[in-house]
Amino acid sequence: MAKLFVLTLLGLGLAFFKDHRSSYLARMNTSREVKSVELPNCKLIKGIETGAEDLEILPNGLAFISTGLCYPGIKSFEPDKPGKILLMDLNEEDPTVLELKMTGSNFDASSFNPHGISTFTDEDNTVYLLVVSHPDFKSTVELFKFQEEEKSLLHLKTIKHELLPNLNDLVAVGREHFYATNDHYFVHQYLRSWELYLGLAWSNVVYYSPDDVQMVVASGFDFANGINMSPDGKYIYVAELLAHKIHVYEKHANWTLTPLKSLDCDTLVDNISVDPVTGDLWVGCHPNGMKIFSYDPENPPGSEVLHIQNILSEEPKVTVVYAEDGKVLHGSTVASVYKGKMLVGTVFHKALYCEF
Ligand SMILES: *[C@@H]1O[C@H](CO)[C@@H](O)[C@H](O)[C@H]1NC(C)=O
Ligand SMILES: *[C@@H]1O[C@H](CO)[C@@H](O)[C@H](O)[C@H]1NC(C)=O
Repeated sequence: MAKLFVLTLLGLGLAFFKDHRSSYLARMNTSREVKSVELPNCKLIKGIETGAEDLEILPNGLAFISTGLCYPGIKSFEPDKPGKILLMDLNEEDPTVLELKMTGSNFDASSFNPHGISTFTDEDNTVYLLVVSHPDFKSTVELFKFQEEEKSLLHLKTIKHELLPNLNDLVAVGREHFYATNDHYFVHQYLRSWELYLGLAWSNVVYYSPDDVQMVVASGFDFANGINMSPDGKYIYVAELLAHKIHVYEKHANWTLTPLKSLDCDTLVDNISVDPVTGDLWVGCHPNGMKIFSYDPENPPGSEVLHIQNILSEEPKVTVVYAEDGKVLHGSTVASVYKGKMLVGTVFHKALYCEF
């Protein structure tokens, strides 16, 4: 009897892992081969070799790019070097990148490890840059003031909070107010691998403000990744990487979110940028996620960019504007547009500049 019980348990255990293995492969993969979609006028950006994990273009054409992310389980070409924030002016004929100096007495640039970024512009047109950083693999939000004349970022504040343990990305709704994604639950690397493998969906979205409210506003994600907001501030978009979905939430005056709809994308959706003029979404995607988590330069992860129009309508229009199997870019995470130009960033590889 005892033997039968053990065998049953073993059988159940094996079935459990078999189930999870196939579901794991499905979550990490897409159901199709990458069909190449080329753009004629693209070139790699000089000076970006260690990733352009996140980027944001201001309405005046200045782009901030975070580079040099070191993240457990993900490739880095310069694991011992701190990350940087780069600036690019898309109004220039042949734009180049420039490293922004970072100043401020309480800021330790040597442990800066930038991930998602977001900007906030106040009534006086002062631009603030909020950056998720992982000093020593912890999570902080670093608040900077952008000083355009000096081409520098003045560090104002480091934000840490118990509701912000495993940050990935954020979208600013005020100078120190933001929605942020925690991409996983466990801090420990080993437990985190199991969480991802089993698809426990313990990742969430948090609203943070410095004085009054901090709260979980959405949860149960299979790796919540990019987050952004509609230009009118009414809707929040969340990319759920391993479920291949973009979720739309209605944002309320009390900062809570109500789920409105989800869009299935058949690709691992990473970063969302929103065109400030049209409200369209541009999404950096991984058509084969497995290759992102186990990087092989001989068989690199591909890249894919989706353009989503009228996401609130009954029939949103989804167009693949760029796709390739890694010949040019390994593992795109983000794409953003400005006046007929597009920037595409990657987790740890290069970045692309295209003209339509
Ligand atoms: C991922 O999907 C592709 C296309 O269907 C397939 O050829 C490949 O074997 C899959 N890979 C894994 C690890 O499931
Ligand atoms: C927040 O506002 C929404 C919409 O008005 C309401 O349904 C919800 O109950 C409010 N939640 C809290 C916690 O006040």
